[in-house]
Amino acid sequence: MQNLTILQYPDPRLYTVAKPVAVVDDRVRKLVAAMLETMYAANGVGLAATQVDVHERIIVLDTSEERNAPVVLINPQIVRQSAQDKEWEEGCLSVPGIYDKITRPAEVRVRALDAQGAVFEMDADGLTAVCILHEMDHLLGKVFVDYLSPLKRSRIKTKMLKRQRQAA
Ligand code: NI
Repeated sequence: MQNLTILQYPDPRLYTVAKPVAVVDDRVRKLVAAMLETMYAANGVGLAATQVDVHERIIVLDTSEERNAPVVLINPQIVRQSAQDKEWEEGCLSVPGIYDKITRPAEVRVRALDAQGAVFEMDADGLTAVCILHEMDHLLGKVFVDYLSPLKRSRIKTKMLKRQRQAA
């Protein structure tokens, strides 16, 4: 299967709010497989459907060192989050080469459907919690640079647009 194209910031399509998946069928499973392949090929730890211009609530991630523990979250919901926050340096496949510190809840419990359509819950901390929250933001049309100051964000935008012009 061919890798999907990852939208690059500040592509306005990254600001689309995703809709829930109505039924987890073969179409969804094919998309999930392609998203995983695309994420691994790009050396990412997570990818949201929004980033491949599919506006449905689907996330894939793999924060294992061995890169052999894919997690699929369909229609994810945070059911619990810690009061304690943690700062983490984040990056994004839609904003390559840009990293900055973002503060988010340190631990979360997420409820979602798996690729078979079964409900499950998962507790996460560390990078996995960061990744889940970062990818869930994408589904709401939010990119991590939106947490940064307007000045920083405008510098990143300029840099990205320049790079995209050079690559075109
Ligand atoms: Ni991202």
